[in-house]
Amino acid sequence: MSNHAEPAVTESASIESVLHENRVFQPPEGVSSRIGGAYVKSLDQYHALYKRSIEDPDGFWSEAAGELHWFAPWSSVVEWKLPDAKWFVGGQTNVCYNCVDRQIASGHGDDVAIVWEGEPVPGAGGAGAALQYEAGISGPEVRKLTYNDLKHDVCKFANALKNLGVRKGDVVTIYMGMVPELAVAVLACARIGAPHSVIFGGFSSSAIVDRVVDADSKVIVTCDGAWRRGAIVPLKDNVDAACNELQGSANAVRNVIVLKRCNNNISWNDVRDTWWHELVDNAADDCPCEHMDSEDMLFLLYTSGSTGKPKGIVHTTGGYMVFTYLTSKYVFNLVPDQQQVFWCTADVGWVTGHSYIIYGILPNRVPTVMYEGAPNYPQPDRFWDIVERHKVTQFYTAPTAIRAFMKWGREHPDNHDLSSLKVLGTVGEPINPEAWMWYHEVIGSEKCPIVDTWWQTETGGHMITPLPAATPTVPGSCTLPFFGIDAVIVDDNGNEQPVETGGLLAIRKPWPGMLRGIHGDRQRFIDTYFSRIKGMYFAGDGAKRDARGNFWIMGRVDDVINVSGHRLGTMEVESALVSHEAVVEAAVVGMPHEIKGTGIAAFCTLGPNHQPADKSNAEKLRSTLREHVAQEIGAIAKPDMIRFTDALPKTRSGKIMRRLLRSIASGDEQGTQDTTTLEDFTVLAKLREDKEG
Ligand code: WTA
Repeated sequence: MSNHAEPAVTESASIESVLHENRVFQPPEGVSSRIGGAYVKSLDQYHALYKRSIEDPDGFWSEAAGELHWFAPWSSVVEWKLPDAKWFVGGQTNVCYNCVDRQIASGHGDDVAIVWEGEPVPGAGGAGAALQYEAGISGPEVRKLTYNDLKHDVCKFANALKNLGVRKGDVVTIYMGMVPELAVAVLACARIGAPHSVIFGGFSSSAIVDRVVDADSKVIVTCDGAWRRGAIVPLKDNVDAACNELQGSANAVRNVIVLKRCNNNISWNDVRDTWWHELVDNAADDCPCEHMDSEDMLFLLYTSGSTGKPKGIVHTTGGYMVFTYLTSKYVFNLVPDQQQVFWCTADVGWVTGHSYIIYGILPNRVPTVMYEGAPNYPQPDRFWDIVERHKVTQFYTAPTAIRAFMKWGREHPDNHDLSSLKVLGTVGEPINPEAWMWYHEVIGSEKCPIVDTWWQTETGGHMITPLPAATPTVPGSCTLPFFGIDAVIVDDNGNEQPVETGGLLAIRKPWPGMLRGIHGDRQRFIDTYFSRIKGMYFAGDGAKRDARGNFWIMGRVDDVINVSGHRLGTMEVESALVSHEAVVEAAVVGMPHEIKGTGIAAFCTLGPNHQPADKSNAEKLRSTLREHVAQEIGAIAKPDMIRFTDALPKTRSGKIMRRLLRSIASGDEQGTQDTTTLEDFTVLAKLREDKEG
């Protein structure tokens, strides 16, 4: 069980640490040569470079940016007027150029850029799976795209977008499965300067509506369906539902581009819909890169905050490009021409996929693996099968996945040759030491350094992380700040906290990959990130530092919960619940969960006509509400536990006492909570109220 799931204290700045972990792992013997020659070979070298990056950010970052291509040079490296940062001011570049064309220009057009593997495995069962393959083909479908292939496909699709009237600055919504065309679509947008807004394929049609409206996006790129665990996710149906809802409004969607992937039945709107293949057939295959100002928007990515409405995080061109390039290079030690194959298992719908499947990896000229489907399809060894067949050298996944692997059993990885692996990474939530040790021993054979990377949608790339051949690691700690990152632990007044004392994690100086705003909501941008601690970026996480200077992340301090490494605002789930006719009021908190790290616990009060008559009716209503939340947000937001109650515990000022709910939810981990009687709960709530009154 993860002991990180809940910070010990969440409503004040003094956070008690619950972790005691002393095992220190030095970078494994010989790792530097195994990773193609480490860029940073020792802790001393890290400290020296770090010092330079903080004392001379202009020098440090212009050297990094100089490794990439610019159409016009910048006049100043950074301009910082809190809360606004500008990087490489006046410079002009194109991120797609640096991901693709630059590699071709240096003579590497035939190198592999993307290794893609589809989910279906012929002969492995799963309805319809084998239909994807011609007779006689065995094994999953694999496509390898060279930089030349990628340029060809990207140019065609970029022209297709232009032919539909998409211009520089127009937001293109992308709602696709993990197919190579997703990378093509993203890069095509970057090429013509149309910011993309990628929506994770697991989100529902209401989530599409909210995001399309907020971004004022007129074009959606989607697929007929997406493969997931042998079944088809009806992406086009979800898009149709969203478009139909918006039809006739100022936010009506003009064009839907549909990639044929699963051949599932879809309905067709002759005015709105166009097939991807027909569009690109008619498009020219040469499309020049738009010269983008360094501070032009590259993309919008929606993420949860503490209110019900997702925030459109704005990232711009030059700074994000340099930051993801450099963090990828150093943290994974990417070196071209060394037979490296990098695999990040995230979905491109999350920031991890944006930064570490596409934007940070391609400019480093190491092939990036994209896998379409589920980790346990058709068997729980699918990931290890992929690692073995594609000889993956750097592998980047989430603690929640590692916990699932542990549960499925070590025979699955043990059945495969994982000796190609050199560096392992984790992201998304604190990793519990048990999972860290399992990763280290079972997957890494004690030879692979683990880089536990702390960062956020808002930070664009890695902020606190080990470097594989330099940083001693401690299970559960993300260790030391990346170059240029001035991270501190402070109290509410901005005073730095002593060693081993919990506080708020903040960043004092701007960094190139930082968000530039929340789309259309300047005030929320200021309030969320730059108001709680004067003069600093406030990350929303509680953390502490140990005597070695290592950072330990203790979890969110706001009303955001981190479910399977994915952020959800408790308010979003609450809004979804109360939008159901049976629910009058709802409070949602995190609770410890064996696999997900944090699960979702919902406390609901019901309307008078909706009180369940008996246990089986209550159970029915629970499953109705779970489905309702899936409809409103997506399956990831389904509560793991729903409790009905006469009243929610509140303070006198009417604030829901979340801390009390959290302790109730976490005291009851096995799912037995559903039998708890309403009376018990109300009594508990009343007791607490009395005490505090
Ligand atoms: C959490 C994902 C501990 C943290 C890249 C952060 C982590 C939130 C780690 C951002 C880590 C991410 N250790 N906690 N290595 N990485 N987090 O925006 O709470 O989806 O604020 O970005 O995930 O989640 P997001």
